[in-house]
Amino acid sequence: MKLHEDIDQVLIPSAKLRARIRALGRRITRDYTGRDIHLITILRGGLFFLTDLARAIDLPLSLDCLGISSYAGQAQGTVRITKDLDDSIRGRHVLVVEDIIDTGLTLAYIRRNLLVREPASLGICTLLDRPYRRIVDIRVDYVGFEIPDAFVVGFGLDWRGRYRNLPYIATLNPELYR
Ligand code: IMP
Ligand code: MG
Repeated sequence: MKLHEDIDQVLIPSAKLRARIRALGRRITRDYTGRDIHLITILRGGLFFLTDLARAIDLPLSLDCLGISSYAGQAQGTVRITKDLDDSIRGRHVLVVEDIIDTGLTLAYIRRNLLVREPASLGICTLLDRPYRRIVDIRVDYVGFEIPDAFVVGFGLDWRGRYRNLPYIATLNPELYR
């Protein structure tokens, strides 16, 4: 059984992801020129996007990871830190790198948590976005793609821990959810 056999539809093929991430990297490079940029990704979904985005930014940068418990579809709003940052962000230009923003609840929590630590600035960059699903209003500085209201996997995004290593964004065969 191969992983791709569980896929229903490929929404964003890998060439399109790569091209978009390169474009985001160019924009971030332009916007942050003259500042030291500190990328913070949210484990584990943001990892794949982070590594590609970091390599598309032509500036000196550092990075760190924040681990949180994800809600996996239900019980939204309760976010728990499972792995804190290693480095202080005080006085640094932080850019949060997320896989997907849906209700915005997760990111609103993270944003509040990070602002208390007094960064010089706090930007938000997400690969995928469903703006029409927002419960809390949140300003997002960089968006890769707006996507329709279907559960997606791949490029870091999982279903029950699987499918993160697919090199594209896809929907799963509905038979799997039964
Ligand atoms: P929010 O708090 O509703 O914005 O949820 C965002 C988080 O939910 C993301 O960081 C993901 O971990 C997870 N999530 C939301 N939609 C999907 C999806 O379609 N596939 C996989 N994970 C998702
Ligand atoms: Mg996530």
